[in-house]
Amino acid sequence: MQSAYRPIRVALLGAGSVGSQVARLLLENKDELARRVGAELELSGIAVRNVGAKRDADLPSELFTEDAESLIIGSDIVIELIGGIEPAKTWIMLALQSGADVVTANKALIAAHGSELLGLAEQLGAQLYYEAAVGGAIPIIRPLRESLAGDRINRVMGIVNGTTNYILDQMESTGADFADALKEAQDLGYAEADPTADVEAYDAASKAAILASLAFHSEVPVEQVYREGITSVSAMQIETARDAGYSVKLLAICERVNEGESGLVVRVHPTLIPLEHPLAAVRGAYNAVFVEAESAGQLMFYGAGAGGPETASAVLGDLVSAAKRHIAGGPGLSDSTHANLSVLPIQNVRTRFQITLEVQDKPGVLASVANEFGSHGVSVETVTQSAAGAGVAAQLTIMTHSALERDLESLVESLTKNDFVVQVDSVIRVEGI
Ligand code: HSE
Repeated sequence: MQSAYRPIRVALLGAGSVGSQVARLLLENKDELARRVGAELELSGIAVRNVGAKRDADLPSELFTEDAESLIIGSDIVIELIGGIEPAKTWIMLALQSGADVVTANKALIAAHGSELLGLAEQLGAQLYYEAAVGGAIPIIRPLRESLAGDRINRVMGIVNGTTNYILDQMESTGADFADALKEAQDLGYAEADPTADVEAYDAASKAAILASLAFHSEVPVEQVYREGITSVSAMQIETARDAGYSVKLLAICERVNEGESGLVVRVHPTLIPLEHPLAAVRGAYNAVFVEAESAGQLMFYGAGAGGPETASAVLGDLVSAAKRHIAGGPGLSDSTHANLSVLPIQNVRTRFQITLEVQDKPGVLASVANEFGSHGVSVETVTQSAAGAGVAAQLTIMTHSALERDLESLVESLTKNDFVVQVDSVIRVEGI
């Protein structure tokens, strides 16, 4: 296609499952992309660690280079898909400093150093796009950055890790315990050999920090995100939840709080949500982000949270935006942290809890347990007691009304010391009611 504008030189860093799909789509859809952008997108090279390695897509060998720095310098747009902090950070800075716009899918880097990199981009009049960093194929960064920029967001709740959603879903639908469901996720290629980043919720915490920062126009350091993974979720918890009409999901929750100190709380933990809540319908390895905004009301963004072609779709969307800006000029997208809200500890959150206790089955136990709740300011909504034989401990499942996390913490501490309580089996937060 002939265009009035010279070809835009695109450098790709990384040719893993996403990178190789981005390269394939760029080459296969060259003409169509050129028509959409108004200029040809020329893939000038692909920087990799080892040019001889096997790739997911059949790509021309002459595109590969091990010299990332030479490729970056002289490019108009650099797509970073190598992941991790270094050398990704250094190469993104080099790209921005040499006048390129940057597209990245690197959630760990954006969560840890986003404000530094976005600040550098702004100072240099360049752009940093990162739609693929959260929710894979799902458009969520752009809606928060642009579409909802005129609204006031109060809360964002997301299933932002497909591996853990797959594991919890398997546990729920087959009754498997965590270890077996993890093994199956590993066999199917959802979970990595070292599953720590997913199952301990480091991945979800990075994504939560990014979502919160955009939704609330504030800097949210990832270290201030409360994080609890799914390794101790038991088959018993899932069954108890199901019987009570709930599903267990690993939720990333970002919200404004106003009790005492006002600010934000950002947290990731296993959560009960009612089976009729839209997030409960998110099965398998899918992701979804549920947004509550003052004027727009409730919105849900749903789709594939990972995968080569799926994530490549988000990267190419960013690439088209970056290329159009290259032609039209102007400032493009920008993030703002002007609201500067403080990120507060989870103790400031108000939520509901389901607490499962093993207690002695004899007179006075319920009264004593109820008294613990009352004296810590935690109001009980329902109590269910499982049948127990004579002399055998009974199980109490207690659903609370909304209560402060800090009151819950002191309640649980007292319950563990109560003479009638054999043990506290489980404490899980409840949302979406
Ligand atoms: N490991 C992530 C997940 C995929 O399981 O969702 C990429 O963020």
